[in-house]
Amino acid sequence: MTHTLSLADAADLNRTPIDITGVLDRLVHEADATATTSIGFPGAVDLDHSDVITRLGIRLWNNIGDPADPGGVAHTRVLERAVVTWVADTLSMPAHDRWGYVTTGGTEGNLSALHAAYRRHPSARVYYSTAAHYSIPKIVRMLGVQGVIVNALPDGEMDYGHLAMQVRRRRRWPAIVVATAGTTMTEAVDDTTRIRAILDEHGVEAHVHVDAALSGIPLALDGRLRLDDSAGIGSIAISGHKFLGVPTPCGVVLIRDSLRKPVDHVPYINTGDTTVTGSRCGLAAALLWHAIATHGREGHRWRATQARRLAAYATDQLTAIGWPAWRHPHAFTVVMPTPPKQVCKKWLLASDGDTSHIICAPGISTGQIDAFVADLAAAAPPPKIPRPRSASEPHVSTCPA
Ligand SMILES: Cc1ncc(COP(=O)(O)O)c(C=O)c1O
Repeated sequence: MTHTLSLADAADLNRTPIDITGVLDRLVHEADATATTSIGFPGAVDLDHSDVITRLGIRLWNNIGDPADPGGVAHTRVLERAVVTWVADTLSMPAHDRWGYVTTGGTEGNLSALHAAYRRHPSARVYYSTAAHYSIPKIVRMLGVQGVIVNALPDGEMDYGHLAMQVRRRRRWPAIVVATAGTTMTEAVDDTTRIRAILDEHGVEAHVHVDAALSGIPLALDGRLRLDDSAGIGSIAISGHKFLGVPTPCGVVLIRDSLRKPVDHVPYINTGDTTVTGSRCGLAAALLWHAIATHGREGHRWRATQARRLAAYATDQLTAIGWPAWRHPHAFTVVMPTPPKQVCKKWLLASDGDTSHIICAPGISTGQIDAFVADLAAAAPPPKIPRPRSASEPHVSTCPA
């Protein structure tokens, strides 16, 4: 099909007439055309959400106000509460000390949690690593708090020695530390036990927040990410459109209830103003609920196992053609030197300078990996770059800076 107009021109609302169906179809066509080569992003593509879209997608579901609010009409708060409970249970968060809601995504989850921490500790310094998501420094600026940057190691994990040094210098002030469970580029997981130990050693009043947008659900299903009493973690933000593949941006934030300060009551909606936005997407809560209800914990564990197997396969195939790829053992993400231009033109990878990654999110197939590896093998001789060290390995001086 050839189009005489660009999509932007066809969509121009000042045109008459506008080919509305044509514009919508072209959007779908363009998204479909790039789906096979889109292997750089973490959205799972294996789940079928059409049941919810067909039944609920044609009307407004507004979960305005606190998720516990039973009032109002045309909302999905009952499903939202079920989602929050499931995620909190999966994280072993104590039932008597948890609160949370369905957000617009990882950024809002981080904002909600860091705002709650800031309200308790207004003079706190907020520590985050250079591998933290860009939403963290943005939120630090929005809250008007003092941020402290901590180095990350080449594999993306926080440099705990540097954190200790930064905390030591500022021990007079409370600390809000953002750990990441699945950094955006390498899917590194910061060790909250080591972070907590550093904070305790320096006698600093602290709140530890985990930005688990990428890896929260898979790590919680493994039992490797827990928010029980011994964890010393105050809050967590998780994304809903990544591992659960929900076809609209969304997420879940969870905060220890005992760490929250009272909020204003809003008379005309008769609820507490507990959430970042007022009106909230009830469809997202229903989609999350459906994704969880359809597969259950075992189903989602299986999906995570399959994705990790594919990531291990991809790493092996890349290594076999001499391309220095590596991954963290828990990760879906395979990190490699940025491929030559012609490969990046065809394959939608995520690249940060000379480092790129693919993400073997559930739904990515062996065939896609094989085709990518074949293109790479045909394109150029591999660069000679060693795998970076991890936080638990001794320092190796040949690491890229
Ligand atoms: C670690 C991490 N935190 C936060 C976010 C932000 O999530 P969102 O784009 O849903 O706001 C992302 C998104 O990629 C992420 O990888």
